[in-house]
Amino acid sequence: MHATEIIAKKRDGKSLTKEEIAWFIRAYVSGEIPDYQMAALSMAICIRGMHEEEIYALSLEMLESGTTLSWPEDDRPLIDKHSTGGVGDKVSLVLAPLLACCELRVPMISGRGLGITGGTLDKLEAIPGFRTDLTLEQLQRQVQEIGCAITGTSRQIAPADQKWYTLRDVTATVPSLALITSSIMCKKLAEGLDALILDVKCGSGTSMQNVEDARSLAQSMVSLGSQMGVATRAMITNMEQPLGRMLGNAVEVNEAVATLEGGGPRGLRDISLALGAEALLAAGVESDFQVAERRLETLLETGHGREKFAQMVTAQGGSLDAERKVAKATTLIAKQAGTVTQIHAGRFGRAVVQLGGGRQELGDLIDPSVGIELCVEIGQEVEEGQLLARIFADDPPAAAWLDHLREAIEIGPERPTLSPLVMEHITETGN
Ligand code: URA
Repeated sequence: MHATEIIAKKRDGKSLTKEEIAWFIRAYVSGEIPDYQMAALSMAICIRGMHEEEIYALSLEMLESGTTLSWPEDDRPLIDKHSTGGVGDKVSLVLAPLLACCELRVPMISGRGLGITGGTLDKLEAIPGFRTDLTLEQLQRQVQEIGCAITGTSRQIAPADQKWYTLRDVTATVPSLALITSSIMCKKLAEGLDALILDVKCGSGTSMQNVEDARSLAQSMVSLGSQMGVATRAMITNMEQPLGRMLGNAVEVNEAVATLEGGGPRGLRDISLALGAEALLAAGVESDFQVAERRLETLLETGHGREKFAQMVTAQGGSLDAERKVAKATTLIAKQAGTVTQIHAGRFGRAVVQLGGGRQELGDLIDPSVGIELCVEIGQEVEEGQLLARIFADDPPAAAWLDHLREAIEIGPERPTLSPLVMEHITETGN
C-alpha cells in the first residue's frame, strides 16, 4: 500500500477499507509514515468525514496500538465517565467516589486542561501530595481495593492517539467527528470497561456550541461503545454558563468537596446526580432513574461520598486536610441593576488561564491558588453595586481586565429563557 494513494482516496471522498486504515495507523506509529502525510490524511478526514464502519476500524486500530486492561473476576461492574470538557466542570471529582460507594469499580484515566477548559488532573494536583502518575498496576490495585482512582494516562494506553493528538492540535484537525470519536473512545475502551457514561457539553464554554453537533458526537460515541460491547450512554449538558460557582484548581476542589458533603451549588449537584444515575442504569445496578438519583443523594447527605473521596486522596499520596492555598480576592461589582441574561463561560475559562490557572503554552506551570468565584447566575436579579464575582490572584488584576470580565456577565432589563441543565439523554436505543 502507498500512503499517498490512501490520502488521495479520502481526499476524493471515498471510504477507506479497514485494511487501509490499519496499515496507515500502524505505519504512522512505527515512524514509517511521517507527520506530514498523517497531517494530510487528518485534513482529508476533517473535510470528507468517515462512515460508521471506518470510525469503528480506526478506533479499533488505535485501541490495539496499546494495552487493554484486564481485570480480576469481580461482581462489581467497571465503569468510567468522560466529559468533553467545560468551564468549571469538576463532576469527575464528585462522581468517582459516589460510584465507588455503589459497588462499582471506577478506573478513571483523566486529562489535563485543554484550551479554556480545566483538567481533572490539574485540579486534583491542587491537593498537596496528590499523585496523578499511577502506573497501570497501581491504578488497578487501588481500584480493586477501594473502588476508584483518578490518574493520568500511560504510554501503554493507545499510543497511536498520543502521537496523533499532538499533531492534530497543531494542524487544525482536532474538530472532526470521526477523529474526536475515535480519539476519546480508544482511550476509554482500553480501560476494559463494562459501562461508560459520556457527558457531552454544549454551549459557549466548550467545543460543541450547538445541540446538533453535540448530538452527532454523542450518537457517534454511544454507537461505537455499544458495538464494542461496552454499555454506553451519553447526556448532553448545558455549558452556556460555567458549572458551579468556582473556576480554578484549588477552589474547584473545595467546591467538589462541599458537594460531597451535601452542600455545593445546585447545578453541580444536579448534573453529578443525573450523570451518576445514568451510570447506575448503564452498569445495570439500578433500573429506575429517580431511584438511582435518590441513592446517590443519600451518599452525599450521609457524608459517605466525601469519606470515599478522602480514602482515594490518601491512597494517591494526598492529604485532604492539608491547606489548599487560595490567592487574595479582588471583587467585581455590578455597575447597573437588572437581570443577568448571559454569563460567557468561554471568557471566564480564558480568564482563569490568563491568571495562571491553566496553560497558555505547553509546559507552563499552573498556579493552583488562582481562580474566580461567580456570585450570580443567569436569570438572577442584581442591584447596582452588588457583588458579581471574586477574582483570586495575588497580583491584583488590571482595571481594564476586570472591566472586560464584567462585560462577560450581561445584565439587561428582560428575564432570559433558561435552558435546562440536562438537555438530552442519548442511548443506543435512542431514548
Ligand atoms: N479529547 C480527546 O481525547 N480527543 C479529541 O480528539 C478531542 C478531545
